[in-house]
Amino acid sequence: MAVAHHEREAPGLPLFGRAEVEAAAAPAPAGAPPEPVLDLEDIQGNILSGFNKDFQVLLLLRITDVPACKRWLRSIIPMIATAEEVQAFNQLFKSIRVRRGEGLIVRATWVNIAFSFDALKRLTSDANLFNDQSFKKGLAAQSAGLGDPTGPNDQGNPNHWVVGGRHNQADILLIVAGDTLGETLHGVARVEDTIYGFAPQGKLTSPGVQVIYKQSGAVQPSPNTGHEHFNFLDGVSQPGLRGRVSNAPNDWLTPRQNPNDENQGKPGQDLLWPGEFVFGYPGQDPNKKVEDPGPVKNGGPPWSKNGSFLVYRRLQQDLVGFNTFVLEQAAALGMDPERLGAKFVGRWKSGAPDMRAPQVDNPLMGNVDCANNNFDFQKATPPLPPLPPGAPPTCTDDIPNTNPAQQFDPAPADPTGALCPVAAHIRKSYPRDDTGNESDIQTHRLLRRGIPYGEPSLDDGSTTDDTGLVFLAYMTSIENQFEFVTKNWVNNSNFRDPDTGFDPILGQRAGTNRTRKFTFIDDDGNPQTITIPHDFVIPTGGGYFFSPSICALRHHISS
Ligand code: HEM
Repeated sequence: MAVAHHEREAPGLPLFGRAEVEAAAAPAPAGAPPEPVLDLEDIQGNILSGFNKDFQVLLLLRITDVPACKRWLRSIIPMIATAEEVQAFNQLFKSIRVRRGEGLIVRATWVNIAFSFDALKRLTSDANLFNDQSFKKGLAAQSAGLGDPTGPNDQGNPNHWVVGGRHNQADILLIVAGDTLGETLHGVARVEDTIYGFAPQGKLTSPGVQVIYKQSGAVQPSPNTGHEHFNFLDGVSQPGLRGRVSNAPNDWLTPRQNPNDENQGKPGQDLLWPGEFVFGYPGQDPNKKVEDPGPVKNGGPPWSKNGSFLVYRRLQQDLVGFNTFVLEQAAALGMDPERLGAKFVGRWKSGAPDMRAPQVDNPLMGNVDCANNNFDFQKATPPLPPLPPGAPPTCTDDIPNTNPAQQFDPAPADPTGALCPVAAHIRKSYPRDDTGNESDIQTHRLLRRGIPYGEPSLDDGSTTDDTGLVFLAYMTSIENQFEFVTKNWVNNSNFRDPDTGFDPILGQRAGTNRTRKFTFIDDDGNPQTITIPHDFVIPTGGGYFFSPSICALRHHISS
């Protein structure tokens, strides 16, 4: 099912046939707290719905003159895509693809914008009210604490970053996303016209901003569409979101599609209160049940409502180093290298999770979003009930009128990590029910919107040197979400258990000795420890940003 459009991250309903899906979706449980209506017209489009475009260009700008910058900002507000537009487009796109089998009939090029704390301080009078200390300090200042290399000659040291380092921090991040390279570049040219050709009264004037870096990203071509550059399918697991898109009682942003669990979107996709990702709505409470709303999340200034923090990390991937290491270690252990790779990530390259495809890959499952996320770690997952004959599918997918999730064996419990290592990337970065306090785990989630950049290495082992992931993630607490996951889980060799080891993909051991231990249980049940000699993922740029509401952009930031 190769598709040109990387639509995995969009949990939207099809526009046509929507009534059937809504009817089939479980209604809100009796007595459940009402879910807020999300202000989709005011929230930027990439946050909740996800652009899901095959091409993206980030433009990183520096402010050179505040009043001119405000004038320029006012001129580009009409270009900024809202969640309402992106949501409607994604639904239309999906419906057309389901019915006609082709996707690129409807197209759109989207633009979103975000600001650093320093920029907001210059553009507004009350940015100091932001609560998040990490946002205020910025990524470069936080880098060492995140385990990034600090040696004077280390490429990962922020002194050497291509953007966002100590000497080249960006004030503004613009994301331009499109369906084809040509359309995306056209979108970039339109934005650049507003900068280089800024002429509000017909007279060329300084726009008050300067482009300091341009980052392009692109989904890999078929057959690796949707795979990151180590070649594992990415964007499989995303949090589901509570909240409605209209006043109708069941008009949810994330449809409820698991007949076994009314608190999930697709099977295995736990629903979170939207305040985890957008300010001004209830979030999760670590001391209440996962389904109960926590307090309304407040960013600080009143205008932070409907906005979200955006973490950008430019992560270079050492493809040759990673692939060679996996081959060598697999040979030494007498293992299939694909199996060892799956132990590192917790999923096979196809996206099939170790938890449901324990010994061999299952590429069909990898592609079925109703199946590829339906697992926990401590608890076994019950099978989905069979559909009554003729009933509409409860978990809609790209294959209409079937429920392929039922073709696969349900996930067993795996408390020891015999199936999915406790240190595997997906288990470290989202331990699901592993710690006994699921409510707390759900306060550390990320809405990931990344895209690969650069050319993959060639089969002859040659490499382009600069290939990796444009990691983008939205959240309402950089401290408690992105930084917590990085410091307390991914880089913590004693999480979940003492001496578990590091996340083999992402984990960094701070300091000059960068070797990392990774432990797992092999298919004969024997514990194994691997020592990873150096980092395979190297930070080379980024920044902490705030993606404001349209209203804040118009009435506070640009006025
Ligand atoms: C080059 C760097 C990275 C690579 C190659 C990578 C790769 C992957 C892959 C292949 C998956 C599985 C697909 C999925 O579940 O969606 C995944 C999931 C995930 N990654 Fe990464 N990732 C990278 C960076 C990061 C960073 C920086 C973070 C956050 C600190 C992160 C957090 C996550 C999370 C939260 C999940 C989903 C886990 C789940 O919900 O089960 N990743 N990543």
